[in-house]
Amino acid sequence: MYPILVSAHSGLRWLVLLFLVLAIFSSLSKWQGNKPYTANDKRFSLFALIFTHIQLILGLVLYFISPKVRFSGDVMGNTMLRFYTVEHITLMLIAIVLITMGYSRAKRATTDIAKFKKTFWFYLIGLLLILVRIPWPFRNLGAGWY
Ligand code: HEM
Repeated sequence: MYPILVSAHSGLRWLVLLFLVLAIFSSLSKWQGNKPYTANDKRFSLFALIFTHIQLILGLVLYFISPKVRFSGDVMGNTMLRFYTVEHITLMLIAIVLITMGYSRAKRATTDIAKFKKTFWFYLIGLLLILVRIPWPFRNLGAGWY
């Protein structure tokens, strides 16, 4: 169970990143080019939202079964334990809240340009937070590329 969840959580990062990048680039270029909001724009931002929410669910389960998460006093002194117990979850939760807010504000916006602007800014900040708190292999936090 645990290895399957870690693999799923690790591999899904690429779908999260792919759809966030697609939604961000598409909204920026259409905003700048004054183009209409289409079903594809909605699809990109919806898939990005769905995959980040699946990551949230998998991450929450992992948080309570992972050996890299501990609730003891020595956590802050250990780089890997501190990363997963405190840093990863905190930044990822903020990023997921921002992406969710961006999606719902874009949905409620009344003009196409407002939809693109909301999607662009909220998703961009969410993506940056995710990128800085993914345990990339070169950070030696015991995680792989997929
Ligand atoms: C979009 C959001 C997220 C992304 C892209 C992401 C990505 C990742 C990646 C790539 C790993 C390393 C997996 C490996 O190869 O070993 C990981 C590990 C982990 N993540 Fe996330 N994560 C996200 C959100 C969350 C959230 C919200 C939580 C907690 C609620 C969480 C909890 C964990 C835990 C506990 C581990 C360590 C698993 C282990 O190896 O034991 N993640 N995450």
